[in-house]
Amino acid sequence: MTLRLATAGESHGPALVGILSGLPAGLELDHDRIDADLARRQQGYGRSPRQKLEQDRIEVIAGLRHGHTLGTPLAFLVRNRDHANWEWGMSPWPPEGEASGKGTKPVTLPRPGHADLAGTLKYGLDDARNALERASARQTAITVAAGAAAKALLAQIGIEVAGTMLEMGDVDAAKAERDTVGGVVEVRARGVPPGLGSYASKEDRLDSRLAAALMGIQAVKGVEIGDGFALAGERGSAAHDEIFRDERGYYRETNRAGGLEGGVSNGEEIVARAAMKPLPTLMRPLRSADLETGEPAEALVERSDVAAVEALSVVAEASVAFELARAVREKFGGDAIGDFVAAHGAYLERIPWSAR
Ligand SMILES: Cc1cc2nc3c(=O)[nH]c(=O)nc-3n(C[C@H](O)[C@H](O)[C@H](O)COP(=O)(O)O)c2cc1C
Repeated sequence: MTLRLATAGESHGPALVGILSGLPAGLELDHDRIDADLARRQQGYGRSPRQKLEQDRIEVIAGLRHGHTLGTPLAFLVRNRDHANWEWGMSPWPPEGEASGKGTKPVTLPRPGHADLAGTLKYGLDDARNALERASARQTAITVAAGAAAKALLAQIGIEVAGTMLEMGDVDAAKAERDTVGGVVEVRARGVPPGLGSYASKEDRLDSRLAAALMGIQAVKGVEIGDGFALAGERGSAAHDEIFRDERGYYRETNRAGGLEGGVSNGEEIVARAAMKPLPTLMRPLRSADLETGEPAEALVERSDVAAVEALSVVAEASVAFELARAVREKFGGDAIGDFVAAHGAYLERIPWSAR
């Protein structure tokens, strides 16, 4: 038993789609809470007016009745309201009538730092839009919606996941110079019992799964668990978390490992960080080469944010929540939500550990 998420959708197409399978039956989902997370993703300092335009909302198509999951695939979509301006340009079928709106001319000026050039070469495209539409981080709206469902599942067994921004470049100065900035976000998960993930093989390790979940987000170029890179410069005596036990069970006084040892959760808070590069679409374009002529040219300028670090904290939170939800589904199983909660309870009866 595990969770799976299939997704589809282009940035300016009609909608983004997700199919989330593996949730137990009877889990209550809160419509407003999912939309609130979608709104959090759209806010934050340094974002463009597109975010105001979109006002994302989830529409559930299948797998839910009267707010409770049916144990069947949960199908949902988030419409791209901006599609109204791209109906001709992003029409799934050959468009009818005169070209109108946006996206009518091929993009031949690939932007450094985007998938534009690599995508056109890989797929044999003559319009980089056919690559950039899917490579866009617009897709992260689906990650966030699925993450909201994952957080609802985790909450049933007392696990809370929260993302925050730790660092961001100077947005005001960058904006004035038509430049962009990046930053660092952190995700913490509390109440995670020991024993999620496994050292049995490298793809089972929860640390590798969390790293892949975070690295899978657009513009993330570095991930660390716990003290991560800083540990490399420490001595062993200052790098590990000594083990203690009291009447409530095992615990640590430090958490340099970020809650993971041997690829398995150890009962401490899970701590993961992600570094985001500066956004690659610049209003002051970088140098590029025209795909048609091969001549030197300036890269495409398309409406874009100065920074999206706060948005990344929301997407990272959702991504970590989804991976943890997968891990608890694997450990506790159950077709009905009650089975799942009972299996978690029985496990906590067995082990000398309790959430602190
Ligand atoms: C939430 C979020 C919003 C983003 N918004 C933009 C944006 O407005 N403009 C931009 O150029 N890149 C943006 N990006 C980053 C690009 O999508 C990403 O850099 C690009 O697809 C290339 O992928 P890579 O950086 O992982 O190699 C955003 C990323 C995230 C996570």
